[in-house]
Amino acid sequence: MDEQDEQRELARFQSIIDDDGRIEPRDVMPEGYRKTLIRQMAQHAHSEIIGMQPEGNWISRAPSLRRKAILMAKVQDEAGHGLYLYAAAETLGADRGELLDLLHTGRQKYSSIFNYPTLTWADMGAIGWLVDGAAIVNQVPLCRCSYGPYARAMVRVCKEESFHQRQGFEILHTLSHGTEAQHAMAQDAVDRWWWPSLMMFGPRDTGADAAPGGHTEQSMAWGIKRFSNDELRQRFVDMTVPQAEALGLTLPDPDLRWNEQRGSYDFGEIDFAELFEVIKGNGPCNRQRLEHRVRAHQDGAWVREAADAYAAKRAADRTAQGAA
Ligand code: 3HC
Repeated sequence: MDEQDEQRELARFQSIIDDDGRIEPRDVMPEGYRKTLIRQMAQHAHSEIIGMQPEGNWISRAPSLRRKAILMAKVQDEAGHGLYLYAAAETLGADRGELLDLLHTGRQKYSSIFNYPTLTWADMGAIGWLVDGAAIVNQVPLCRCSYGPYARAMVRVCKEESFHQRQGFEILHTLSHGTEAQHAMAQDAVDRWWWPSLMMFGPRDTGADAAPGGHTEQSMAWGIKRFSNDELRQRFVDMTVPQAEALGLTLPDPDLRWNEQRGSYDFGEIDFAELFEVIKGNGPCNRQRLEHRVRAHQDGAWVREAADAYAAKRAADRTAQGAA
């Protein structure tokens, strides 16, 4: 494509963005747009597959067959979300093996939230209710992302996340209205998961706690992000506080109070230094999560080799048939 054609095509890209339309894999797009999408979709996918570990840890210790079946279904869903998102990244020419290598060697990220330990069964409730609840707030706008394959992947992911959030709420509701010890276990889990869940939305968009090299402004200009990190965080807080009341549990923030003027909840200061430390790899479980992931990848090498051998045989057979 010559310079003039490319300029025309990039102008077409911008007019699609300006008209709130969808960019598809074969459209000409700025390299920065493509790179941002691969970065975000890959790290989203990494988050999904690493996110299987904290909950997978409790499948064999679920308190009943029903809870075990629900938790197994949820963890399997997360694996599926990861596969959708790797497939979406591949539509932009990314190689899944390379993306996993970037994850395994710490050159790509996954969500900070999955670097915290799951200490009791109530953590399964807190993760479903808070972590998947936050994921829904973050992912529903992504259903309107300007990049078609990502937006379409999010539609199905969000439907499944709603089940994840609901089952978490139900676990906590059961415990919170159970024995004193069960109520205390539920409250302890919420106390440990509340602030890391607020950190899932990322650093502040502006000011001292903003991320160096933050992407929000450009991602919003490209219609990848529809709202800023702080806007979605506030939306999550406003949605979750009444749910905590319905659960009969308190949120560990003495500054949390309704602000009539703003029509939202004011809440306390988030320890962004903790977020940056966890992102840097210094969270409670970072090393364990990555070691487990690399080991699982290595243990699964035979499956990839078998699939490659089968694909090669099929291709050879087709060639032989074609030649006959
Ligand atoms: N954990 C780890 N890294 C984080 C982070 C977090 N909580 N918040 C921000 N970061 C990183 C960003 O990746 C970026 O680093 P990079 O340039 O190396 O990629 C840097 O900090 C600057 O942050 P920005 O906010 O400027 O970056 P983004 O514009 O990418 O916004 C985001 C961050 C809001 C997480 C955005 O990437 C996003 O919406 N991603 C899609 C949703 C997602 O990945 N959610 C993660 C959880 S998935 C999940 O919960 C699954 C559910 O089933 C449980």
